[in-house]
Amino acid sequence: MVDFHTHILPKMDDGSDSAEESAAMLKQLAAQGVDTVALTSHFYARDEAPDSFLERREKALERLQPVLTEDGMPRVLSGAEVYYFRGFSRIGQLPDLRMEGSRILLLEMPFCTWGEKELGEIIDLCGDPSFVVLLAHVERYWKYQKASVWDRLLSAGVMTQSNAECFLYPRTRRKAARLVQNGYIHVLGTDCHNMGARQPRMGEAVAVLERQLGSETTRRFTARGEEYLEEWRV
Ligand SMILES: [Fe+2]
Repeated sequence: MVDFHTHILPKMDDGSDSAEESAAMLKQLAAQGVDTVALTSHFYARDEAPDSFLERREKALERLQPVLTEDGMPRVLSGAEVYYFRGFSRIGQLPDLRMEGSRILLLEMPFCTWGEKELGEIIDLCGDPSFVVLLAHVERYWKYQKASVWDRLLSAGVMTQSNAECFLYPRTRRKAARLVQNGYIHVLGTDCHNMGARQPRMGEAVAVLERQLGSETTRRFTARGEEYLEEWRV
């Protein structure tokens, strides 16, 4: 199983604070059946140049290296959670912000109704064969856009990631399971930040999905993550 969205790299953002905490997060994910973890630290173009981000990411990965070679650790893929700004698709180093080995760009959008400029830029990027746009924690934007906007984005090839947590709350879990069933949610991520209030909860989310959709549908859904990584290889 793949976790497409985490803040595990130590001291990169508001996620893990140390290599020890990162190790605990990775171990917890492994125990929950996750064998591939995307390391998607926040990237804010308004605060930092891509070069500086990539250099910091490299160093954080080096700090984590001794942990990654321990027995039973999941495979990790470096990546980024790129925050949208108008013109983001023209960043020269955008390909370097994709998930390692793949064309996937994890994109975080503002929590508001998107206008034609935003929609047009996402849809245009989907037309570029070098990228697969994966919208981070899609459930957070759901209510702000009309149903027709989602249909438009999905038919342009936009992919969606949902946070494991939204399968855990009684208020949202039924709807989330329905969205998986109807093909509006493509992949899962924990969006874990630490071992406290925002720890990895993939195992619990999968258990809820199994109760809602049955084990075979859930198995097929979670297996799709690996298939997408293969399908979207660089
Ligand atoms: Fe995140």
